[in-house]
Order: sequence, then structure tokens, then C-alpha cells
Amino acid sequence: MIYLDHNATTPLDPRVLEAMLPYLREAWGNPSSPYRFGQQARAAVERARSRVAECLGCRADEVLFTGSGTEADNLALRGVLRARRARGRHVVTSAIEHPAVLRTCAALEADGCRIDYVPVGRDGVVDLATVEGMLGPDTVLLSVMHANNETGVLQPITELAALARSRGVLLHVDAVQTAGKLPGRLADLGADLVSLSAHKLHGPKGVGALYVRKGTPLDPLITGGEHERGLRAGTENVAGIVGLAEALALACAAAESEAIRQAELRDRLERDLLAAIPGARVNGAAAPRVPNTTNLAFPGVDGESVVVALDLRGICCSTGSACSTGDPEPSHVLLAMGLDPRDAQSSVRLSLGRETRDEDIATVLHALVEVVGQLRAVSSL
Ligand SMILES: Cc1ncc(COP(=O)(O)O)c(C=O)c1O
Repeated sequence: MIYLDHNATTPLDPRVLEAMLPYLREAWGNPSSPYRFGQQARAAVERARSRVAECLGCRADEVLFTGSGTEADNLALRGVLRARRARGRHVVTSAIEHPAVLRTCAALEADGCRIDYVPVGRDGVVDLATVEGMLGPDTVLLSVMHANNETGVLQPITELAALARSRGVLLHVDAVQTAGKLPGRLADLGADLVSLSAHKLHGPKGVGALYVRKGTPLDPLITGGEHERGLRAGTENVAGIVGLAEALALACAAAESEAIRQAELRDRLERDLLAAIPGARVNGAAAPRVPNTTNLAFPGVDGESVVVALDLRGICCSTGSACSTGDPEPSHVLLAMGLDPRDAQSSVRLSLGRETRDEDIATVLHALVEVVGQLRAVSSL
């Protein structure tokens, strides 16, 4: 199998599994128990928190563990809105966010909040002046993703952070698709809240984290015990948290070399595909992108058919977000970038990872050229 869907999920790194196993087998105590057996688990959670903080470039008490990237996004949006009710109920986000943010915003809207959606240009990037025009005295939060999961397009977070700060607005960044993929420390972006998810970086599924800059007002969504400083009740997923820390540390250590290696493979694949397939286009090519992602339109073919045909050849890829599989609607991200619905439907996402090798790229190139040629021949009959 050639797996080119790393933006959907990644294989668990064997070193991460090794780090987790003691907390599933032997050290299974409750971190809140006062005796030494429980405190062994507590120490593992706090060690993991310090390691995550070191990778992000923040203090340990600025890291909250959650049950997923989705939960981290929900906590950021709903938690800040609850805590800052006195300022207002206005949120600005982008039209291309992951459903974890967009559907949460829709739910908040149904509860009486006002949400503005910043459009993106053809390159997939939000326009700073448009964002600025949307921020008002009652704006509580700006939420913009770091890299888009479908196109890999990066947003100007540092500039957005400066803008938000100058207007007294908090900034949340969904960095699920950049954590461990880009060199540099996420806390240095200047955001107040940053979400990440372990399973996108060779860690286990069902565990995420939210960086919360010290002093950021936040209310809990899940109430109960005093876990996570009272901001996320529930006995900690000790093994998952240890796995997240190990996975993030490994990913951050390799980020610089992997970013160069994967960008080189991705760029070569794009160059060769554009040369070999008439009419093929890279969506978001004009913008800076995360190094592992390419989103290609093959006009005249249905993207889903390409995915199925590649699957029959042992190649895994997707037409967009794994959360929208089976959704007959064209991608909201590509439509927001101004693609016509037919071109959006003809698009396929390939996302590389640490195990992707030169020969995989050659095999995928060959398969895609053949598959698109065959599908075009059938559709022109
Ligand atoms: C940009 C982005 N945000 C959030 C999520 C949700 O993360 P999780 O699967 O951990 O809930 C994803 C996963 O697809 C994502 O790509």
C-alpha cells in the first residue's frame, strides 16, 4: 500500500507505542490518586505536558490536554465566548476552516452569537484588510487555521495575531495540520489559543491539546473534577497523553529535514503531473503551503472516481477532508477559492508523510497519469 492521506491520519510511530505501553500495562493508576501508584501516572502526565510545552515554546501550565483536535477547537471557541460574554458575542473566522470550527460556529450562531466568515482569494489566503474591517468593539475572538487540511495553504498568522492584539481580540489558531510539520515553535506565532491533534503526527487517535496563553479567559465545556486546572474534567488519558508528547517531540525533532524532503517530493510530483496530464492544476499553488500537501484538479474527471481507481491500485488518497467522505457536495474550501463546482469535484488531495519514499512518488505519478487518461476516455465516449 502507498499511503498518501497523512492529512486524514498517520500511522502510529512504533517509538510512540513503546512510550505508551507502560501506562496501559503496568502504570495504570489514576493520576488523581494520592498514593505513589497514582502519582506515577500523574508524573507521566506532567512530564508529557512539559515536553509538549517545550515543543510549542510555552510554559507547561499553558498546555491543556483534550480528547481530540475537534475538542480543542470547541473548547477554544465556546470556552472563550462564555468567559468573555461581557465584551460581546461576535466571532470572525474564515470560510475555509475545518468543520470542527465551522460547525461549532454554526451552533454558536444558532445560540445567538454573530459570526462573520472572511472569504479567501483564489490563492486560498485570507485578506488581512477584510479581517480588519470585520473586527468591531464586540468582537471576542478571531479563529483562523494555520494550514488548510485540503490544500495545505498557510495563513498569515503572525500578521493576524498583531492585528487581533491591536484590537483587543483573542486569536485562536487550528494548527492541527502544521504541528510537527513545520520548523519553528507554534507559541511564537503570537496566537492566544492553538489546537493540535496527536493522530496527525504519528501519535494515537483520540487525544489533542490546546495551548492557552497565560491570562486568556476560558471557561470549561466539560465540568466535573478539577482535572486540567478545572478546564477539562475527566480522568486523563494517560497513555494517550504520553503518546502525544512522544509523537510531538519526534515530529518536531525531524520537522526541518522532513519539511525539506517532503516539499521536494511533493514539488516533483506536481511538476511531473502538470507536464503529463493536460489541463491539470494545483489548487493553492500561488500561496505558501505546508510541505506535505498537494491538491490537484483534473478537469473532466470526477475526483471520487480517481480516489476509487487509485485505491484499486493500492494507493490511498482522498478528495478532501476525511470528515466529508461520502458528501456529494463539492469542497467548501475549493468553492471559497473561486473554483467552479465542476473543477472542485474533479480535485484530489495527496498528502505525504514520513514514510513516503521517492519510489512511491514515481508509482503514484504513473498511476495517476493512467487513471486520469482512462477516466477521461470513458467520459468522452
Ligand atoms: C484542520 C483540522 N482541524 C481539526 C481536525 C480534527 O482533529 P481530530 O480528528 O483530532 O478531532 C482536523 C482533522 O481532520 C483537521 O484537519
